[in-house]
Amino acid sequence: MILGIETSCDETAAALVTHGGEIRSSVVSSQADLHARYGGVVPEVASRRHLELVTPVIRDALAQADADLDDVDTVAVTVGPGLIGALLVGLSAAKALAWARRLPLVPVDHLHGHVASLFLEPTNLEPPFTCLLASGGHTLLLDVRDRAWEGVRVLGTTLDDAAGEAFDKGARLLGLPYPGGAALDELAREGDATAYAFPVARVPGLDFSFSGLKTALLYVVRELEPARLEERRADLAASYQRAIVRALVERVEATGAETVAIVGGVAANSELRASLPDAVAAPLALCTDNAAMIASAARYTPAAPDYLTLDAYASAA
Ligand code: KG4
Ligand code: ZN
Repeated sequence: MILGIETSCDETAAALVTHGGEIRSSVVSSQADLHARYGGVVPEVASRRHLELVTPVIRDALAQADADLDDVDTVAVTVGPGLIGALLVGLSAAKALAWARRLPLVPVDHLHGHVASLFLEPTNLEPPFTCLLASGGHTLLLDVRDRAWEGVRVLGTTLDDAAGEAFDKGARLLGLPYPGGAALDELAREGDATAYAFPVARVPGLDFSFSGLKTALLYVVRELEPARLEERRADLAASYQRAIVRALVERVEATGAETVAIVGGVAANSELRASLPDAVAAPLALCTDNAAMIASAARYTPAAPDYLTLDAYASAA
């Protein structure tokens, strides 16, 4: 089995996945509560927490799979993009394990991991397809020709905020705790999505832009008396979510792709999933960060020849 390790942001995760793409265990320990009072992830706090959690989380993944290290033949780890200190914790743990057990170490790109969430059983989606990857840090439209990362081409990306960031910033303006995407999704269910006409940015080609939308919400919120804001919160959430989802769906449809897939934290959004009924969506548990997707990507990535010198990277080259 492949042991996957993921520590790129504020989730400490480990998973055991077979080479055939079956998940034997997937443990995710979220630090969201730890960062909530700062309204976002504090990198140094995240690194320290990863350090405390990485060993117990790996132990837990082994226990839940009813396995031990003898059952592991490959170690896979996220090497970027992400918070550099956070990444280094996972990478160091992976190096130590690989070295001690004389195992190959496979470096995985986090974004490849999100796409590879589709290659796990029972989804097991076969390329070619067009993939919308929408998370807290990235918004990408991808042409996936092959399961290897080299076979993936970027068709469009955001010019400013990521879709998840737009959700989180909007949620914050509406007084919801960090990370606000799921909470905003929940609140929007009680609201009228036609109550406010938020702008859907029209940028050329297949790129996205979300910063104007966030500013538009800010202006509306500022003008409302506190009591009035309380009354309109659900309508604001619903209208704001509608605008983000519209922008995403329009771009996906503009590709004219036959097979469309959605991955990443924002792919958990109920309205986005409902708006793309024919799209293949990653299972909910695999949308937000996890290590099963990292182990999955490792199935299509060569091991590092000289892994002890391997470094992490904060942003995509
Ligand atoms: O993929 P992910 O776990 O981490 C990154 O790689 O960034 O994505 C996290 C993002 C956050 O911005 C979070 O608010 C958003 O995904 N998210 C959602 C929902 N669940 C998580 N956004 C909208 N609706 C949801 N249900
Ligand atoms: Zn992610």
